[in-house]
Amino acid sequence: MKIKTAEYFSTAVKQDQYPSGDMLEIAIVGRSNVGKSSLINKIVNRKGLARISQQPGKTQTINFYLINNAFYLVDLPGYGFARVSQQVKKTWGKMIEEYLHKRANLVSVIQLIDFRHPPTKDDLQMYHWLKEVQSQVIIACTKADKISKGQWQKHLKEIKTGLQADPEDIFIPCSALTGTGIEELRHIFGQLLSIKSQR
Ligand code: GTP
Ligand code: MG
Repeated sequence: MKIKTAEYFSTAVKQDQYPSGDMLEIAIVGRSNVGKSSLINKIVNRKGLARISQQPGKTQTINFYLINNAFYLVDLPGYGFARVSQQVKKTWGKMIEEYLHKRANLVSVIQLIDFRHPPTKDDLQMYHWLKEVQSQVIIACTKADKISKGQWQKHLKEIKTGLQADPEDIFIPCSALTGTGIEELRHIFGQLLSIKSQR
């Protein structure tokens, strides 16, 4: 799919603040600092649309971006960030859970995992949770620019084994720096949205 327009739409911390209407939506989840906001910016080709930080825990709210006036791309707070208080963790956890459970417009959730490391306990939990609600999980393996191509297969295998992944799932090494995998993700977005809107 071609991205023609991308704009910030709104921010929410609870359900009654989500955009109303029945526009379809694709959400991005992943551990804090894995590169969710960076990937969104790269996909929509807008530097600085979603706020980025070297400090984990940058995105603390659910942010809706309107793409092509046709669907929302949703940036969620990261999970598994050790340095926030239990109270904050609980609040974020609840926020993400409520969103994932209750959002009817949600076409698919793309899970981001750092390509350099085996999945964390939190990654595994999120993956298994997603597997219960969607038959196929798309996993974007981020920061692929930090690994030489010769090592990609090894890392892919490590992540798939760590998750005990289903053969139906799709793994895409990607980089917000070099653009690796970005076109493939755009293509998948197009497919996900067209399948859903035909139903
Ligand atoms: P939270 O909002 O805290 O959950 O983080 P996030 O998942 O949105 O990560 P963010 O996009 O803010 O990026 C975190 C850090 O990783 C920043 O310093 C980015 O510059 C860096 N980063 C993100 N994507 C890539 C990538 O593809 N390659 C490299 N080398 N660095 C990246
Ligand atoms: Mg972020």
